Amino acid sequence: MKKINITSEIIECSNEELDPKDKELVKSAENFLDHAYAPYSKFSVSAVVLLDNGIILNGTNQENAAYPSGLCAERTTIFYANSLYPNNKILTLAISAKYEGEIVKNPITPCGACRQVILETEKRFASPIKIILAGKNKCFIINSIKDLLPLSFDDEFFE
Ligand code: THU
Repeated sequence: MKKINITSEIIECSNEELDPKDKELVKSAENFLDHAYAPYSKFSVSAVVLLDNGIILNGTNQENAAYPSGLCAERTTIFYANSLYPNNKILTLAISAKYEGEIVKNPITPCGACRQVILETEKRFASPIKIILAGKNKCFIINSIKDLLPLSFDDEFFE
């Protein structure tokens, strides 16, 4: 029997410490928060992607009275981006959230299903996606979903 330790790299920084382009993405995500449709949870989430053609696309969480029919902001945005631009990789994904009208103090992290979709997108374009999780007080920068989803399931198991 042996113990396997898995490590992840997550960079914590203040909003001011972000690169100018990343700061712009976070601002864009924040500005889009009111486009969320979250009447049930009152938890608005906004995700923005920067594509390798320079295009920036925004999306938000979309809820439904039949709760599981709703969709998180990350998947709304990634599916939208991949539908519009199926040949362009996502370079960066920034996420911001608001609860009852206030931007959350600490960054929120993507749910398991969104992590799986981010992983598929990285694999599809063979390119890591930089993830910026933005709160009011601090941000986390993650250079690949692999740091958020160790021991993941992917198409390598089909080989
Ligand atoms: N949500 C997201 O959009 N992204 C996340 O990373 C976490 C949760 C949404 C789903 C639901 O509409 C609301 O936030 C509360 O869970």
